[in-house]
Amino acid sequence: MQSREKWRSSFGFVMAAAGSAVGLGNLWGFAYRSSQGGGLAFLLLYVLIVLLVCVPVLVGEMVLGRSTAASPFLAPSKAAGDSWKPLGWLFAIASCGILSFYAVIMGWTVDTFFHSLFVGLPSDISEAGAFFDRISTGKSVFIGQIISLLLTAFIVSAGVRGGIERLTRLCMPLLFGLLLLLAIWAAFLKGSWEGYSTFLLRWDASQLLEPGTIRNAFTQAFFSLSLGIGIMVAYSSYLDKNNKLPKEALGIVSFDTAVGLLAGMITFPIVISFGLTDVISESTVGALFIALPTGFANLGIFGRLIAGIFFGLAFIAAITSSISLLEVPVSSLMDQLNWERRKAVIVSTLIVFVIGIPSAISLDVLGNMDAIFNVLLILGGFLISILLGWVIPRKYDEDLALANSSYRVRKYLKFMLRWVSPPVIAIGLVISLTDLFQSWI
Ligand code: PHE
Repeated sequence: MQSREKWRSSFGFVMAAAGSAVGLGNLWGFAYRSSQGGGLAFLLLYVLIVLLVCVPVLVGEMVLGRSTAASPFLAPSKAAGDSWKPLGWLFAIASCGILSFYAVIMGWTVDTFFHSLFVGLPSDISEAGAFFDRISTGKSVFIGQIISLLLTAFIVSAGVRGGIERLTRLCMPLLFGLLLLLAIWAAFLKGSWEGYSTFLLRWDASQLLEPGTIRNAFTQAFFSLSLGIGIMVAYSSYLDKNNKLPKEALGIVSFDTAVGLLAGMITFPIVISFGLTDVISESTVGALFIALPTGFANLGIFGRLIAGIFFGLAFIAAITSSISLLEVPVSSLMDQLNWERRKAVIVSTLIVFVIGIPSAISLDVLGNMDAIFNVLLILGGFLISILLGWVIPRKYDEDLALANSSYRVRKYLKFMLRWVSPPVIAIGLVISLTDLFQSWI
């Protein structure tokens, strides 16, 4: 057996985990989902789900990884016996599935970045459609997908400290700072207030019970936090016993939510100020790849520069997520078959590339992959809450006690993980599945 790597510092771990959480899901998903009519009700549900349901599960994933020091594939069965093997499979399959289409969208991001700086952006809505066609069809999609996967593979093969931690420790603070600047800039655009109030702050209580809004809130919470898929298991398996997991979980969650909000505060003023309202809620990708480039293009050369910065940032955010997705199959192959890292990286990347081909060719497939795997994340979260809340609850408590987490915090988390997370996630899962099937018929 090779000896297990360790993070250099607690800060490095939190930045890596936040790097996984913060990604296209924040920059694209948050704006898109909150613009689908939920408004403030969506925001409220999302924040409640994150704080009350996701935090205990997130800590659960961390405990599972740290206490077993095993990869996501092996950790469930190592902790609770062979009947939990399927959860290991779920982690491996879901992470490969998500990375397969995530890399395609990363490819569009690369393409938009180059268009911003070197080619030009669409100046009105009619051109915007053609622009999106150009970046989302044909050869350029594969080129973008391959560049994204190769970069991801390169970083992951450099290892936990030398690759993942080094990149995220540098990039996450930078990303946050630049997004903050962009949000301030957007606040001074004409129509900024109308942007916030149309999409984020509109209150309609009936939306709280709307299945689509509930599904959006659950999906956004799990996808955005990279939860229910074993990533936090993988990352926490490289942790020391003295990390304070609840505090770190809260750090990750706050960072992630703040970036989602910032992205909304950048997108919505631009959308209103350039009359792009219809585009954003019409298609899943509308906000990020149609409305924003068109909005930026309206500001001339300066706008193209800002667009370059924005899409460069989006790519950085995406790569700190894609490396975490690849780490799941890679660490699993290393653990299970005793492969060395490089070999595991090459094989995993090839598999992910092949699975991603249909998504690269068809937007419909991509949309369905997104919908299906998002539901699997919620299922993963449910199973984790059962595993740690009911099957091995003592491990949860003991592991948290190791790092001197206060008794009250432990008691609260244990209670939530046992009595609140499972039923609430189960309800979310049923509503999401029903809504998904309805959208298909
Ligand atoms: N959380 C990432 C984002 O918001 C996406 C992701 C989902 C990464 C699931 C890993 C696992 O973009």
